[in-house]
Amino acid sequence: MLYIGVDLGTSAVKLLLMNEKGGIENIVSKEYPLEFPHPGWSQQKPEDWWDKTVEGLKELTANADKSRIAGISFGGQMHGLVVLDSDDNVIRPAILWNDGRTTKETDYLNNVIGKDKLSQYTANIAFAGFTAPKILWMKENEPENFNRIAKIMLPKDYIAYKLSGVHCTDVSDASGMLLFDVKNKCWSKEMMDICSVREDQLAKIFESYEVVGNIKADVAAQLGFPESVKIIAGAGDNAAAAIGTGTVGDGRCNISLGTSGTIFISSKDFCVDENNALHAFAHSDGHYHLMGCMLSAASCNKWWMEDIIGTDDFAGEQKDITKLGENNVFFLPYLMGERSPHNNPDARAMFIGMSMDTTRADMTQAVLEGVAFGIRDSFEVARSLGINITKTKICGGGAKSPLWKKIMANVLGITVEVIESEEGPGYGGAILAAVGCGEYASVEEAADKLVKVVGTVEPDAELTRKYEEKYQKFKKIYPTVKCLY
Ligand code: XUL
Repeated sequence: MLYIGVDLGTSAVKLLLMNEKGGIENIVSKEYPLEFPHPGWSQQKPEDWWDKTVEGLKELTANADKSRIAGISFGGQMHGLVVLDSDDNVIRPAILWNDGRTTKETDYLNNVIGKDKLSQYTANIAFAGFTAPKILWMKENEPENFNRIAKIMLPKDYIAYKLSGVHCTDVSDASGMLLFDVKNKCWSKEMMDICSVREDQLAKIFESYEVVGNIKADVAAQLGFPESVKIIAGAGDNAAAAIGTGTVGDGRCNISLGTSGTIFISSKDFCVDENNALHAFAHSDGHYHLMGCMLSAASCNKWWMEDIIGTDDFAGEQKDITKLGENNVFFLPYLMGERSPHNNPDARAMFIGMSMDTTRADMTQAVLEGVAFGIRDSFEVARSLGINITKTKICGGGAKSPLWKKIMANVLGITVEVIESEEGPGYGGAILAAVGCGEYASVEEAADKLVKVVGTVEPDAELTRKYEEKYQKFKKIYPTVKCLY
C-alpha cells in the first residue's frame, strides 16, 4: 500500500509518498507566498495551501499505481489562525505562528488573567504566536470578521477538512492553541470563556494516528484516488518530525532546523516546565513532549545568503569556514522576534563584534552559530529541569549542512545522530497515515522499525570548550541590548 505525508510548511507544502516498507517513492514541493503586511506580521492564504496541495498530490502520484493509495496524513505549521464562516469560506488570511502582532493580547493573558491560571488550564503560558492571543486580537481589531467566525482551525486541519469534510484537529497541534487542556486532552472551558469562543466553533479532537474519515468523493475523483483513501488526523510539524526521526517514547530528542528552530523532547508521562519557558504539549505518539522554539533558524541563513549577500550556493559559502570556535562575530537570530526562551516579539536580529579583518565567511559562520546558540538557550532550560540529553536527531533544511551539524554537536556538547531521511514532518505524516490504516500496531513500533540512523557527529572536547566560552558571551548580548528593542 502507499501512504502520503503532507508537510504544510511556511515556505512550501512538501508531499511525500511512502510504501508499506517505509521506502520513499517520491517527494514533491510546491511553494506559496508569505505576506508581511507590517513589520513583524506574517500571513498566508489558506486557499493557496489547498491549491498547491492539490497540484502537489497530482504530481506526487502521477506515475504511481493510485489504487494502492491507502491513507493521507499531515505535519503542519502550528498555531496559525484559520477562520471560516458558516458557509466554510475563509474569512481572512491566516495569521501565522511567527506573527508578532499580539503583544497587547499576550500581555493581557499573561499578566491580567495570569500565567499561573493559564498554566493550570492549559499547561502553557501565552506566546505571541499562539492561537488564543490572535483570536483576542481579531475580536478587538476586526470585530465584523470575529462575529462571522463559525469555525476556528489550524493550518493542516484546513487541508484535512478540504479532503475529508470533517472539522478535525489532533492533540499535538491543538496543544499550541492555548485553548487546550494538554494534560486531559480536551478543550479548556475556562480558556474558551476568556477568548469568547464556543466549543462548536472548535474542531473535533483526535489522536494524531486516528482516522477522521474517508476522502470526499469529488476530491477523490479530481485526484484519481480511490474513495477508500483514509484521512488521518496528523500532527503539528514538530510532533510529526519527531515521528519521522524516531523521537518517540521517553527522553529522546530531536532538533529541527527549518524556518523555525526547535528542540523537542519526548516523554511517556505528562510533564510541565514550572517556569513555562518550554512548551508542554501532547505528542503524536499518544504521549507528551516538551519543546523550545526559536522563530528564525534556517530562515536566518536563507535571509543572509539570498537577500543580503545574494547567492544560492549555500554549500559553496560554507566551504570558506575553517575557524570553528574562533569567530569574534556574533549574530542574534531574532529576525521575527523571539519565542523561546525570551518571549519577545519585538526583539530583532543583529551582528556584533566585527572588525576591519572580518570576512564574509565570518559573518556566514556567525549566522550558523547564532542559531546553534539560540537552540542551546532552550537546551539549557531542559537541563535545568534535570533532563539529561546526551544525543539528538536532527532534521529540516538546515540539517542538510554537515558544517551546521558539526557546529550544533559542539555547541551543545552532544552526539548528533544522522538519519537516512531528513524529511521529518512529511515522513512522520506518512508514518501516521500507515499507523492509522493498520499497517503498524503503534506509532512507536512504526518509528522504531522505519527510522534508520546512518551516522553520528561526535562533539570534540577542545571545540566544545571553545564554544562554551563563546556561548557564555552570546548569553550576555540579549539582556544588554534588550533596551534597544
Ligand atoms: C512551533 C512553531 C514552529 C512552527 C513552524 O511551536 O511555532 O515550529 O510549527 O512551522
